[in-house]
Amino acid sequence: MTDERTPSQAPADEGPCLLRLEHISKRFGGVQALDDVSFNVWPGEVLCLAGENGCGKSTLIKTVSGVHKPEPGGVMEWDGQDMSDLDPSKAREMGIQVIWQDLALFPEMSVAENIAFERNLGSRLKFVNHDAMRREAARILDRLGVSIDLEAKVSSLSIASRQLVAVARALIADARLVFMDEPTASLSRHETEALVAIVRRLSEQGVAVVFVSHRLAEVLDVCSRVTVLRDGKYVGTYPTAGMTQARLTELMTGRNFDYEVRVPQAQTAKPLLSVRGLTRRGEYEGIDLDIAPGEVVGLTGRLGAGRTELALTLFGLNHADAGEISMDGERLRMTSNRDAIRAGIAYVSEDRLSLGLIQPQSIADNTVISVLDRLLSNRLLSPSKKKTLVDDWIGRLRVKIGETTDPVSSLSGGNQQRIVLAKWLATNPKLLILDSPTVGVDVGARAGIFEIVSDLAAKGMAILLISDETPEVYFNADRVLHMRDGRIVETFVPAETNIDRIEEAVHA
Ligand SMILES: Nc1ncnc2c1ncn2[C@@H]1O[C@H](COP(=O)(O)OP(=O)(O)OP(=O)(O)O)[C@@H](O)[C@H]1O
Ligand SMILES: [Mg+2]
Repeated sequence: MTDERTPSQAPADEGPCLLRLEHISKRFGGVQALDDVSFNVWPGEVLCLAGENGCGKSTLIKTVSGVHKPEPGGVMEWDGQDMSDLDPSKAREMGIQVIWQDLALFPEMSVAENIAFERNLGSRLKFVNHDAMRREAARILDRLGVSIDLEAKVSSLSIASRQLVAVARALIADARLVFMDEPTASLSRHETEALVAIVRRLSEQGVAVVFVSHRLAEVLDVCSRVTVLRDGKYVGTYPTAGMTQARLTELMTGRNFDYEVRVPQAQTAKPLLSVRGLTRRGEYEGIDLDIAPGEVVGLTGRLGAGRTELALTLFGLNHADAGEISMDGERLRMTSNRDAIRAGIAYVSEDRLSLGLIQPQSIADNTVISVLDRLLSNRLLSPSKKKTLVDDWIGRLRVKIGETTDPVSSLSGGNQQRIVLAKWLATNPKLLILDSPTVGVDVGARAGIFEIVSDLAAKGMAILLISDETPEVYFNADRVLHMRDGRIVETFVPAETNIDRIEEAVHA
Protein backbone atom coordinates (compact mmCIF):
# COMPACT_ATOMS: atom_id res chain seq x y z
CA MET A 1 0.00 0.00 0.00
CA THR A 2 1.17 3.49 -0.74
CA ASP A 3 1.66 5.81 2.17
CA GLU A 4 -0.09 9.00 1.07
CA ARG A 5 2.37 11.12 2.98
CA THR A 6 5.28 9.89 0.92
CA PRO A 7 5.85 12.01 -2.14
CA SER A 8 6.19 9.82 -5.19
CA GLN A 9 9.17 10.33 -7.46
CA ALA A 10 7.86 8.56 -10.52
CA PRO A 11 4.70 6.96 -11.81
CA ALA A 12 4.64 3.18 -11.67
CA ASP A 13 6.02 2.51 -15.17
CA GLU A 14 9.33 4.27 -14.80
CA GLY A 15 11.28 5.23 -17.91
CA PRO A 16 13.04 8.39 -18.99
CA CYS A 17 11.07 11.46 -17.99
CA LEU A 18 9.82 13.98 -20.53
CA LEU A 19 10.29 17.14 -18.52
CA ARG A 20 12.71 17.63 -15.65
CA LEU A 21 12.57 20.75 -13.48
CA GLU A 22 15.22 21.51 -10.86
CA HIS A 23 15.43 24.57 -8.60
CA ILE A 24 13.03 26.74 -10.62
CA SER A 25 12.50 30.18 -9.08
CA LYS A 26 10.75 33.28 -10.37
CA ARG A 27 10.38 36.68 -8.76
CA PHE A 28 8.20 39.64 -9.80
CA GLY A 29 9.30 42.76 -7.96
CA GLY A 30 8.50 42.00 -4.33
CA VAL A 31 6.61 38.76 -5.04
CA GLN A 32 8.47 35.44 -4.98
CA ALA A 33 6.07 33.59 -7.29
CA LEU A 34 8.17 30.41 -7.51
CA ASP A 35 10.75 29.40 -4.94
CA ASP A 36 13.04 26.47 -5.74
CA VAL A 37 10.55 24.13 -7.41
CA SER A 38 11.72 20.71 -8.66
CA PHE A 39 9.65 17.90 -10.18
CA ASN A 40 9.36 15.71 -13.29
CA VAL A 41 6.67 14.87 -15.82
CA TRP A 42 6.57 11.48 -17.54
CA PRO A 43 5.25 10.78 -21.06
CA GLY A 44 1.53 10.07 -21.22
CA GLU A 45 0.82 10.77 -17.57
CA VAL A 46 -1.92 13.08 -16.31
CA LEU A 47 -0.38 15.17 -13.55
CA CYS A 48 -2.28 17.74 -11.58
CA LEU A 49 -0.77 20.97 -10.34
CA ALA A 50 -2.60 22.00 -7.18
CA GLY A 51 -2.37 24.84 -4.72
CA GLU A 52 -4.10 27.97 -3.48
CA ASN A 53 -4.71 31.07 -5.59
CA GLY A 54 -1.44 32.84 -6.21
CA CYS A 55 0.79 29.88 -5.26
CA GLY A 56 2.52 30.00 -8.64
CA LYS A 57 0.76 27.45 -10.88
CA SER A 58 0.27 29.74 -13.86
CA THR A 59 3.74 31.19 -13.40
CA LEU A 60 5.24 27.71 -13.53
CA ILE A 61 3.38 26.98 -16.76
CA LYS A 62 4.56 30.27 -18.25
CA THR A 63 8.12 29.42 -17.31
CA VAL A 64 8.06 25.97 -18.87
CA SER A 65 6.43 27.32 -22.02
CA GLY A 66 9.04 30.04 -22.52
CA VAL A 67 6.98 33.08 -21.54
CA HIS A 68 9.02 33.76 -18.40
CA LYS A 69 12.72 33.10 -17.84
CA PRO A 70 13.51 31.27 -14.59
CA GLU A 71 16.08 32.83 -12.26
CA PRO A 72 19.70 31.70 -12.80
CA GLY A 73 20.42 28.33 -11.19
CA GLY A 74 17.23 26.69 -12.43
CA VAL A 75 17.48 23.63 -14.66
CA MET A 76 14.86 22.66 -17.25
CA GLU A 77 15.36 19.56 -19.38
CA TRP A 78 13.19 18.20 -22.18
CA ASP A 79 13.86 14.61 -23.23
CA GLY A 80 17.19 14.83 -21.46
CA GLN A 81 18.20 17.99 -23.39
CA ASP A 82 18.86 21.31 -21.71
CA MET A 83 16.16 23.87 -22.55
CA SER A 84 17.48 26.96 -20.84
CA ASP A 85 17.16 29.42 -23.73
CA LEU A 86 13.50 28.82 -24.34
CA ASP A 87 10.95 31.13 -25.93
CA PRO A 88 7.27 30.51 -26.65
CA SER A 89 7.72 29.52 -30.28
CA LYS A 90 10.61 27.17 -29.47
CA ALA A 91 8.50 25.58 -26.75
CA ARG A 92 5.71 24.99 -29.25
CA GLU A 93 8.11 23.47 -31.77
CA MET A 94 9.35 21.07 -29.10
CA GLY A 95 5.80 19.93 -28.47
CA ILE A 96 4.84 21.96 -25.38
CA GLN A 97 1.37 23.44 -25.71
CA VAL A 98 -0.62 25.52 -23.28
CA ILE A 99 -4.32 26.10 -22.93
CA TRP A 100 -4.38 29.33 -20.96
CA GLN A 101 -6.71 30.25 -18.13
CA ASP A 102 -8.29 32.89 -20.41
CA LEU A 103 -8.00 30.65 -23.55
CA ALA A 104 -6.36 33.43 -25.59
CA LEU A 105 -8.51 32.87 -28.69
CA PHE A 106 -9.30 35.43 -31.38
CA PRO A 107 -13.01 36.09 -30.89
CA GLU A 108 -13.60 37.68 -34.30
CA MET A 109 -11.98 34.84 -36.22
CA SER A 110 -13.64 31.56 -37.19
CA VAL A 111 -13.21 28.23 -35.44
CA ALA A 112 -11.08 26.89 -38.30
CA GLU A 113 -8.85 29.97 -38.30
CA ASN A 114 -8.34 29.83 -34.56
CA ILE A 115 -7.37 26.18 -34.69
CA ALA A 116 -5.10 26.19 -37.73
CA PHE A 117 -3.91 29.75 -38.30
CA GLU A 118 -0.74 29.77 -36.27
CA ARG A 119 0.32 26.44 -37.61
CA ASN A 120 -0.14 27.70 -41.17
CA LEU A 121 1.86 30.81 -40.42
CA GLY A 122 4.70 28.53 -39.44
CA SER A 123 4.62 26.72 -42.77
CA ARG A 124 6.49 27.97 -45.79
CA LEU A 125 3.34 28.86 -47.71
CA LYS A 126 3.36 32.45 -48.87
CA PHE A 127 -0.34 32.89 -48.36
CA VAL A 128 -2.88 31.29 -46.06
CA ASN A 129 -4.64 28.32 -47.60
CA HIS A 130 -8.16 28.36 -46.21
CA ASP A 131 -9.16 24.95 -47.53
CA ALA A 132 -6.12 23.34 -45.98
CA MET A 133 -6.84 25.12 -42.74
CA ARG A 134 -10.41 23.85 -42.68
CA ARG A 135 -9.28 20.31 -43.46
CA GLU A 136 -6.72 20.31 -40.67
CA ALA A 137 -9.16 21.80 -38.19
CA ALA A 138 -11.75 19.18 -39.13
CA ARG A 139 -9.21 16.38 -38.72
CA ILE A 140 -8.23 17.53 -35.25
CA LEU A 141 -11.82 17.99 -34.05
CA ASP A 142 -12.47 14.50 -35.33
CA ARG A 143 -9.55 13.16 -33.30
CA LEU A 144 -11.13 14.80 -30.25
CA GLY A 145 -14.47 13.25 -31.16
CA VAL A 146 -16.34 16.57 -31.18
CA SER A 147 -18.18 18.55 -33.83
CA ILE A 148 -18.21 22.34 -33.95
CA ASP A 149 -19.16 24.51 -36.93
CA LEU A 150 -15.80 25.42 -38.46
CA GLU A 151 -17.11 28.65 -39.94
CA ALA A 152 -18.67 29.97 -36.72
CA LYS A 153 -17.02 33.00 -35.14
CA VAL A 154 -15.47 32.08 -31.81
CA SER A 155 -17.31 34.98 -30.15
CA SER A 156 -20.60 33.23 -30.91
CA LEU A 157 -19.62 29.99 -29.14
CA SER A 158 -20.38 28.84 -25.61
CA ILE A 159 -17.48 28.77 -23.19
CA ALA A 160 -17.38 24.98 -23.41
CA SER A 161 -17.00 25.08 -27.17
CA ARG A 162 -14.33 27.77 -26.94
CA GLN A 163 -12.50 25.49 -24.55
CA LEU A 164 -12.57 22.72 -27.15
CA VAL A 165 -11.28 25.08 -29.82
CA ALA A 166 -8.36 25.91 -27.54
CA VAL A 167 -7.67 22.19 -27.00
CA ALA A 168 -7.85 21.57 -30.74
CA ARG A 169 -5.44 24.41 -31.43
CA ALA A 170 -3.00 22.95 -28.93
CA LEU A 171 -3.19 19.51 -30.50
CA ILE A 172 -2.81 20.47 -34.11
CA ALA A 173 0.88 21.02 -33.56
CA ASP A 174 1.89 17.52 -32.51
CA ALA A 175 1.91 18.19 -28.79
CA ARG A 176 3.76 15.88 -26.40
CA LEU A 177 2.92 17.85 -23.28
CA VAL A 178 -0.23 19.91 -22.86
CA PHE A 179 -0.72 22.26 -19.95
CA MET A 180 -4.35 22.99 -19.15
CA ASP A 181 -4.75 25.93 -16.78
CA GLU A 182 -8.16 25.49 -15.14
CA PRO A 183 -9.84 24.11 -18.25
CA THR A 184 -13.00 23.12 -16.42
CA ALA A 185 -13.52 26.29 -14.38
CA SER A 186 -16.37 27.54 -16.55
CA LEU A 187 -17.72 24.17 -17.64
CA SER A 188 -20.79 22.38 -16.39
CA ARG A 189 -20.48 18.87 -15.08
CA HIS A 190 -21.55 17.37 -18.38
CA GLU A 191 -19.08 19.45 -20.37
CA THR A 192 -16.37 18.63 -17.85
CA GLU A 193 -16.96 14.93 -18.39
CA ALA A 194 -16.48 15.44 -22.12
CA LEU A 195 -13.21 17.28 -21.55
CA VAL A 196 -11.98 14.65 -19.12
CA ALA A 197 -12.65 11.98 -21.75
CA ILE A 198 -10.45 13.97 -24.11
CA VAL A 199 -7.70 14.22 -21.50
CA ARG A 200 -7.80 10.44 -21.09
CA ARG A 201 -7.67 9.96 -24.84
CA LEU A 202 -4.59 12.20 -25.08
CA SER A 203 -2.92 10.28 -22.31
CA GLU A 204 -3.58 6.98 -24.12
CA GLN A 205 -1.99 8.48 -27.22
CA GLY A 206 1.15 9.14 -25.15
CA VAL A 207 0.62 12.88 -24.65
CA ALA A 208 1.37 14.07 -21.12
CA VAL A 209 -1.19 16.43 -19.62
CA VAL A 210 -0.52 18.79 -16.72
CA PHE A 211 -3.88 19.84 -15.40
CA VAL A 212 -4.72 22.71 -13.04
CA SER A 213 -8.03 22.66 -11.20
CA HIS A 214 -9.45 23.89 -7.90
CA ARG A 215 -12.11 21.16 -7.89
CA LEU A 216 -10.44 18.57 -5.75
CA ALA A 217 -12.84 15.74 -6.54
CA GLU A 218 -11.95 16.24 -10.18
CA VAL A 219 -8.23 16.33 -9.44
CA LEU A 220 -8.40 13.00 -7.65
CA ASP A 221 -10.55 11.52 -10.39
CA VAL A 222 -8.64 12.67 -13.46
CA CYS A 223 -4.98 12.58 -12.45
CA SER A 224 -2.68 9.78 -11.42
CA ARG A 225 -0.34 12.09 -9.51
CA VAL A 226 -0.70 15.51 -7.98
CA THR A 227 2.05 18.07 -7.44
CA VAL A 228 1.31 20.53 -4.65
CA LEU A 229 2.69 24.07 -4.46
CA ARG A 230 2.25 26.41 -1.51
CA ASP A 231 3.38 30.07 -1.57
CA GLY A 232 5.61 29.38 -4.56
CA LYS A 233 7.32 26.46 -2.83
CA TYR A 234 7.22 22.81 -3.81
CA VAL A 235 5.39 20.72 -1.19
CA GLY A 236 5.54 17.33 -2.91
CA THR A 237 4.16 15.04 -5.60
CA TYR A 238 1.74 12.35 -4.47
CA PRO A 239 -0.11 9.47 -6.11
CA THR A 240 -3.84 10.24 -6.16
CA ALA A 241 -4.65 6.63 -5.25
CA GLY A 242 -5.36 6.68 -1.53
CA MET A 243 -5.39 10.48 -1.37
CA THR A 244 -8.44 12.19 0.13
CA GLN A 245 -9.79 15.69 -0.45
CA ALA A 246 -9.22 16.57 3.19
CA ARG A 247 -5.59 15.48 3.04
CA LEU A 248 -4.99 17.32 -0.23
CA THR A 249 -6.55 20.46 1.24
CA GLU A 250 -4.21 20.24 4.18
CA LEU A 251 -1.19 19.84 1.89
CA MET A 252 -2.28 22.89 -0.13
CA THR A 253 -3.15 25.19 2.76
CA GLY A 254 -1.39 23.79 5.79
CA ARG A 255 -4.78 23.96 7.54
CA ASN A 256 -7.74 21.72 8.28
CA PHE A 257 -11.33 22.61 7.44
CA ASP A 258 -14.43 21.26 9.12
CA TYR A 259 -17.74 21.81 7.43
CA GLU A 260 -21.13 21.87 9.13
CA VAL A 261 -24.54 22.65 7.73
CA ARG A 262 -26.21 25.90 8.72
CA VAL A 263 -28.89 25.83 11.37
CA PRO A 264 -31.80 27.64 9.72
CA GLN A 265 -33.25 30.52 11.75
CA ALA A 266 -36.92 30.41 12.58
CA GLN A 267 -38.26 32.54 9.76
CA THR A 268 -40.33 35.29 11.37
CA ALA A 269 -39.22 38.17 9.18
CA LYS A 270 -41.30 39.14 6.18
CA PRO A 271 -39.66 38.24 2.90
CA LEU A 272 -37.37 40.86 1.44
CA LEU A 273 -37.52 39.45 -2.06
CA SER A 274 -40.78 38.04 -3.24
CA VAL A 275 -41.20 36.56 -6.71
CA ARG A 276 -44.51 35.28 -8.07
CA GLY A 277 -45.24 33.44 -11.28
CA LEU A 278 -42.12 34.73 -12.99
CA THR A 279 -41.86 33.41 -16.54
CA ARG A 280 -39.56 34.02 -19.45
CA ARG A 281 -40.57 31.85 -22.37
CA GLY A 282 -38.07 29.15 -23.25
CA GLU A 283 -35.96 29.86 -20.15
CA TYR A 284 -37.96 29.52 -16.92
CA GLU A 285 -41.58 29.31 -15.94
CA GLY A 286 -43.87 29.98 -12.98
CA ILE A 287 -41.11 30.78 -10.50
CA ASP A 288 -42.27 31.53 -6.93
CA LEU A 289 -39.47 32.48 -4.59
CA ASP A 290 -39.20 34.26 -1.22
CA ILE A 291 -36.00 35.24 0.51
CA ALA A 292 -36.10 36.81 3.97
CA PRO A 293 -33.47 39.16 5.37
CA GLY A 294 -30.71 37.04 6.87
CA GLU A 295 -31.58 34.01 4.81
CA VAL A 296 -29.25 32.16 2.43
CA VAL A 297 -31.16 30.36 -0.30
CA GLY A 298 -29.27 27.96 -2.54
CA LEU A 299 -30.29 27.39 -6.14
CA THR A 300 -28.87 24.34 -7.85
CA GLY A 301 -29.55 22.24 -10.91
CA ARG A 302 -27.98 21.15 -14.12
CA LEU A 303 -26.72 23.28 -16.94
CA GLY A 304 -29.60 24.77 -18.89
CA ALA A 305 -31.98 24.55 -15.94
CA GLY A 306 -32.50 28.31 -16.17
CA ARG A 307 -30.73 29.42 -12.99
CA THR A 308 -28.57 32.11 -14.53
CA GLU A 309 -31.43 33.32 -16.73
CA LEU A 310 -33.57 33.78 -13.60
CA ALA A 311 -30.73 35.63 -11.85
CA LEU A 312 -30.32 37.96 -14.82
CA THR A 313 -34.00 38.86 -14.62
CA LEU A 314 -33.79 39.52 -10.87
CA PHE A 315 -30.94 41.90 -11.66
CA GLY A 316 -32.87 43.69 -14.39
CA LEU A 317 -30.73 42.40 -17.22
CA ASN A 318 -33.39 40.48 -19.09
CA HIS A 319 -37.12 40.88 -18.89
CA ALA A 320 -39.72 38.45 -17.71
CA ASP A 321 -42.74 37.83 -19.95
CA ALA A 322 -45.02 37.38 -16.95
CA GLY A 323 -45.06 37.47 -13.17
CA GLU A 324 -43.82 39.96 -10.61
CA ILE A 325 -40.83 40.78 -8.44
CA SER A 326 -41.17 42.72 -5.17
CA MET A 327 -38.63 44.02 -2.69
CA ASP A 328 -39.83 44.99 0.80
CA GLY A 329 -43.41 44.55 -0.33
CA GLU A 330 -43.06 46.99 -3.20
CA ARG A 331 -43.41 45.81 -6.75
CA LEU A 332 -40.34 46.53 -8.88
CA ARG A 333 -40.54 47.78 -12.41
CA MET A 334 -37.19 47.00 -13.90
CA THR A 335 -36.09 48.43 -17.18
CA SER A 336 -32.38 47.93 -16.54
CA ASN A 337 -29.94 46.83 -13.86
CA ARG A 338 -29.87 50.42 -12.56
CA ASP A 339 -33.36 49.82 -11.17
CA ALA A 340 -32.15 46.65 -9.50
CA ILE A 341 -29.10 48.36 -8.00
CA ARG A 342 -31.35 51.18 -6.74
CA ALA A 343 -33.59 48.60 -5.06
CA GLY A 344 -30.55 47.20 -3.24
CA ILE A 345 -29.78 44.18 -5.41
CA ALA A 346 -26.21 43.19 -6.30
CA TYR A 347 -25.21 40.44 -8.71
CA VAL A 348 -21.88 38.65 -8.93
CA SER A 349 -21.95 36.98 -12.30
CA GLU A 350 -20.66 33.54 -13.19
CA ASP A 351 -18.92 34.74 -16.33
CA ARG A 352 -15.36 34.65 -15.26
CA LEU A 353 -13.90 35.32 -18.69
CA SER A 354 -15.33 38.81 -18.59
CA LEU A 355 -15.14 39.40 -14.89
CA GLY A 356 -16.26 42.96 -15.06
CA LEU A 357 -12.79 44.13 -14.12
CA ILE A 358 -10.95 46.89 -15.94
CA GLN A 359 -7.68 45.05 -16.47
CA PRO A 360 -5.15 47.88 -16.86
CA GLN A 361 -6.56 49.81 -13.89
CA SER A 362 -5.37 49.37 -10.36
CA ILE A 363 -6.63 46.86 -7.84
CA ALA A 364 -7.84 49.76 -5.68
CA ASP A 365 -9.83 51.43 -8.47
CA ASN A 366 -11.46 48.18 -9.48
CA THR A 367 -12.50 47.51 -5.89
CA VAL A 368 -14.19 50.88 -5.37
CA ILE A 369 -15.68 51.30 -8.81
CA SER A 370 -19.24 50.48 -7.72
CA VAL A 371 -19.20 52.70 -4.65
CA LEU A 372 -17.70 55.88 -6.02
CA ASP A 373 -20.77 57.81 -4.84
CA ARG A 374 -20.07 57.03 -1.23
CA LEU A 375 -16.42 58.03 -1.48
CA LEU A 376 -17.05 61.38 -3.07
CA SER A 377 -16.88 64.09 -0.43
CA ASN A 378 -17.40 67.55 -1.91
CA ARG A 379 -17.21 65.97 -5.36
CA LEU A 380 -13.64 64.85 -4.76
CA LEU A 381 -12.62 61.30 -4.14
CA SER A 382 -11.28 61.14 -0.61
CA PRO A 383 -8.03 59.14 -0.74
CA SER A 384 -8.26 58.18 2.91
CA LYS A 385 -11.79 56.82 2.56
CA LYS A 386 -10.76 54.94 -0.51
CA LYS A 387 -7.74 53.44 1.21
CA THR A 388 -9.74 52.34 4.25
CA LEU A 389 -12.36 50.66 2.10
CA VAL A 390 -9.87 48.92 -0.18
CA ASP A 391 -7.65 47.71 2.67
CA ASP A 392 -10.69 46.43 4.51
CA TRP A 393 -11.95 44.27 1.62
CA ILE A 394 -8.52 43.05 0.56
CA GLY A 395 -7.99 41.94 4.14
CA ARG A 396 -11.40 40.34 4.63
CA LEU A 397 -11.20 38.37 1.41
CA ARG A 398 -7.49 37.65 1.93
CA VAL A 399 -6.64 38.74 -1.58
CA LYS A 400 -3.00 38.08 -2.36
CA ILE A 401 -1.57 41.27 -3.85
CA GLY A 402 1.64 43.28 -4.04
CA GLU A 403 0.42 46.91 -3.85
CA THR A 404 -3.16 48.12 -4.23
CA THR A 405 -1.85 50.43 -6.97
CA ASP A 406 -0.72 47.45 -9.11
CA PRO A 407 -2.86 46.73 -12.18
CA VAL A 408 -5.55 44.14 -11.54
CA SER A 409 -4.06 42.17 -14.45
CA SER A 410 -1.03 41.32 -12.27
CA LEU A 411 -3.22 39.21 -9.97
CA SER A 412 -3.66 35.46 -10.30
CA GLY A 413 -7.04 34.33 -11.70
CA GLY A 414 -8.57 33.42 -8.36
CA ASN A 415 -7.46 36.65 -6.76
CA GLN A 416 -9.11 38.62 -9.57
CA GLN A 417 -12.30 36.70 -8.79
CA ARG A 418 -12.07 37.91 -5.18
CA ILE A 419 -11.75 41.52 -6.33
CA VAL A 420 -15.02 41.10 -8.27
CA LEU A 421 -16.65 39.88 -5.10
CA ALA A 422 -15.21 42.76 -3.07
CA LYS A 423 -16.47 45.23 -5.63
CA TRP A 424 -20.07 44.10 -5.13
CA LEU A 425 -19.90 43.49 -1.40
CA ALA A 426 -18.66 47.06 -0.99
CA THR A 427 -22.04 48.30 -2.28
CA ASN A 428 -23.62 46.82 0.86
CA PRO A 429 -26.68 45.43 -0.93
CA LYS A 430 -29.91 44.17 0.69
CA LEU A 431 -30.03 41.19 -1.64
CA LEU A 432 -26.85 39.63 -2.93
CA ILE A 433 -27.07 37.22 -5.84
CA LEU A 434 -23.96 35.08 -6.11
CA ASP A 435 -23.74 33.07 -9.30
CA SER A 436 -21.07 30.37 -8.94
CA PRO A 437 -18.95 32.63 -6.73
CA THR A 438 -16.14 30.18 -6.16
CA VAL A 439 -15.36 29.12 -9.71
CA GLY A 440 -11.56 29.21 -9.91
CA VAL A 441 -11.22 30.01 -6.20
CA ASP A 442 -9.08 27.72 -4.06
CA VAL A 443 -10.38 25.62 -1.22
CA GLY A 444 -9.08 27.86 1.56
CA ALA A 445 -10.56 30.97 0.02
CA ARG A 446 -13.87 29.21 -0.60
CA ALA A 447 -14.14 28.68 3.11
CA GLY A 448 -13.26 32.36 3.59
CA ILE A 449 -15.88 33.51 1.12
CA PHE A 450 -18.59 31.44 2.79
CA GLU A 451 -17.60 32.72 6.20
CA ILE A 452 -18.19 36.20 4.83
CA VAL A 453 -21.50 35.15 3.26
CA SER A 454 -22.59 33.76 6.60
CA ASP A 455 -21.54 36.96 8.43
CA LEU A 456 -23.41 39.09 5.91
CA ALA A 457 -26.52 36.97 6.40
CA ALA A 458 -26.18 37.28 10.16
CA LYS A 459 -26.23 41.05 9.69
CA GLY A 460 -29.47 40.79 7.74
CA MET A 461 -28.47 40.53 4.10
CA ALA A 462 -30.57 38.19 1.97
CA ILE A 463 -28.49 35.93 -0.24
CA LEU A 464 -29.30 33.86 -3.31
CA LEU A 465 -26.47 31.40 -3.87
CA ILE A 466 -26.38 29.74 -7.28
CA SER A 467 -24.03 26.80 -7.70
CA ASP A 468 -23.83 23.46 -9.44
CA GLU A 469 -21.55 22.11 -6.74
CA THR A 470 -23.89 20.35 -4.37
CA PRO A 471 -21.62 20.63 -1.29
CA GLU A 472 -21.47 24.37 -1.79
CA VAL A 473 -25.23 24.87 -1.48
CA TYR A 474 -25.63 22.05 1.03
CA PHE A 475 -23.18 23.49 3.55
CA ASN A 476 -23.94 27.17 3.04
CA ALA A 477 -27.66 27.61 2.43
CA ASP A 478 -30.66 27.44 4.76
CA ARG A 479 -32.81 26.08 1.95
CA VAL A 480 -31.78 24.53 -1.35
CA LEU A 481 -34.02 24.88 -4.38
CA HIS A 482 -33.61 22.41 -7.18
CA MET A 483 -34.32 23.87 -10.60
CA ARG A 484 -34.90 21.67 -13.60
CA ASP A 485 -36.03 22.59 -17.12
CA GLY A 486 -36.92 26.12 -16.03
CA ARG A 487 -38.97 25.16 -12.97
CA ILE A 488 -38.27 24.86 -9.26
CA VAL A 489 -39.11 21.22 -8.71
CA GLU A 490 -38.01 20.56 -5.13
CA THR A 491 -36.85 22.27 -1.95
CA PHE A 492 -34.41 20.70 0.49
CA VAL A 493 -33.47 21.79 3.99
CA PRO A 494 -29.85 20.72 4.52
CA ALA A 495 -30.32 20.40 8.28
CA GLU A 496 -33.00 17.78 7.61
CA THR A 497 -31.56 15.80 4.75
CA ASN A 498 -28.23 14.41 3.65
CA ILE A 499 -26.14 15.58 0.79
CA ASP A 500 -26.49 12.41 -1.27
CA ARG A 501 -30.23 12.92 -1.64
CA ILE A 502 -29.67 16.29 -3.27
CA GLU A 503 -26.86 14.91 -5.47
CA GLU A 504 -29.07 12.08 -6.62
CA ALA A 505 -32.06 14.31 -7.29
CA VAL A 506 -30.03 16.76 -9.36
CA HIS A 507 -28.03 14.23 -11.32
CA ALA A 508 -30.68 11.54 -11.67
N1 LIG B 1 3.33 39.43 -14.51
C1 LIG B 1 3.28 39.52 -13.18
N2 LIG B 1 3.65 40.63 -12.52
C2 LIG B 1 3.60 40.70 -11.18
N3 LIG B 1 3.21 39.71 -10.37
C3 LIG B 1 2.82 38.56 -10.94
C4 LIG B 1 2.82 38.42 -12.39
N4 LIG B 1 2.38 37.17 -12.67
C5 LIG B 1 2.11 36.59 -11.48
N5 LIG B 1 2.38 37.41 -10.45
C6 LIG B 1 2.23 37.09 -9.01
O1 LIG B 1 2.84 35.84 -8.78
C7 LIG B 1 2.08 35.06 -7.85
C8 LIG B 1 1.71 33.74 -8.48
O2 LIG B 1 0.72 33.97 -9.49
P1 LIG B 1 0.13 32.82 -10.40
O3 LIG B 1 -0.70 33.48 -11.43
O4 LIG B 1 1.22 31.92 -10.84
O5 LIG B 1 -0.81 32.03 -9.36
P2 LIG B 1 -1.75 30.75 -9.58
O6 LIG B 1 -1.21 29.67 -8.71
O7 LIG B 1 -1.89 30.49 -11.02
O8 LIG B 1 -3.13 31.25 -8.93
P3 LIG B 1 -4.69 31.04 -9.39
O9 LIG B 1 -5.13 29.74 -8.83
O10 LIG B 1 -5.41 32.16 -8.69
O11 LIG B 1 -4.76 31.16 -10.88
C9 LIG B 1 0.88 35.92 -7.48
O12 LIG B 1 1.18 36.57 -6.27
C10 LIG B 1 0.78 36.92 -8.62
O13 LIG B 1 0.18 38.13 -8.20
MG1 LIG C 1 -3.49 30.68 -12.38
